[in-house]
Amino acid sequence: MNFREQYGKWAVVAGASEGLGAAYAEELASRGLNLVLVARRSEVLQLLAAELSTKYEVETKIIVQDLSAPDAAEQIVRNIIDLEIGLLVYNAAFSAIGPFLEHPLEGHLREIHTNAFTPLKLVYLLAQQMLERRRGGILLMSSLSAFQGSAYISTYSATKAFNIVLAEGLWEEWREQGVDVLVCVSGAVKTPNYIASEPEPTGGLGDMTMNPEPVVREALNALGKRPYVIPGRVNRLASFIMRHLLPRKVAVQFMGRVLRGKYIDS
Ligand SMILES: NC(=O)c1ccc[n+]([C@@H]2O[C@H](COP(=O)([O-])OP(=O)(O)OC[C@H]3O[C@@H](n4cnc5c(N)ncnc54)[C@H](OP(=O)(O)O)[C@@H]3O)[C@@H](O)[C@H]2O)c1
Repeated sequence: MNFREQYGKWAVVAGASEGLGAAYAEELASRGLNLVLVARRSEVLQLLAAELSTKYEVETKIIVQDLSAPDAAEQIVRNIIDLEIGLLVYNAAFSAIGPFLEHPLEGHLREIHTNAFTPLKLVYLLAQQMLERRRGGILLMSSLSAFQGSAYISTYSATKAFNIVLAEGLWEEWREQGVDVLVCVSGAVKTPNYIASEPEPTGGLGDMTMNPEPVVREALNALGKRPYVIPGRVNRLASFIMRHLLPRKVAVQFMGRVLRGKYIDS
């Protein structure tokens, strides 16, 4: 089956208005899928939807929704009840950067809602139809920071670890039933969010920063082939060293030093 037959007719991109999310939307449109674009900023979504439907002759629908809301998944599903959803890309995330106790508890809970609670619910609510049709795909975004504890973004990295383990488990459960599950474990990517959170471009880590388009292409090309993908050769090498060559305690300390240098001491 080609990509459109396997994952059409419609793809939901949650967190679609800019950065990686907009890149997913464009790549999926170029592969012939109609798009449901979800984010909070209506005008940006409208512009993107108009641009992609003209450029790629696909249908688009926008849903303005805060994904940290407890009923976000139900609201989205209510809006797409008549559409055949063949692919879910959950891209949106929230990250509270800094010392753990300097953020209000609400900030940490918002990370859990945006990054774990809503994607879990969307997967639950959309996978049933995919399994009945015996075709479909689910792609969750995660981060290299999730392979070990990551100081100053502890809750964020914990939610991203949830996504890795959830996707791997579902990949094994559903791989014989026609539904492909993939987690994209990304290194740093030049998105508006990432650039805004960077105190200033750094030497070492800055060099590893990828553009959104190749990340998205590698992820979509890996769907149906394996449970997880780490886009970029340098990221795969760094992750191999962190996970397999360094003792876990040392990897946690190394990550802490990098993040302290980036966000605390800068
Ligand atoms: N960028 C990196 O360096 C990097 C590294 C590793 C992993 N990742 C992962 O890649 C994904 C994208 O990351 P990014 O930070 O780079 O973001 P991005 O691709 O720039 O996208 C953020 C998107 O999510 C939407 N969004 C955020 N919070 C939302 C909410 N509460 N409700 C609805 N929409 C929301 C934003 O739209 P609105 O503002 O319009 O709502 C925007 O469209 C995340 O899952 C992140 O964990 C990124």
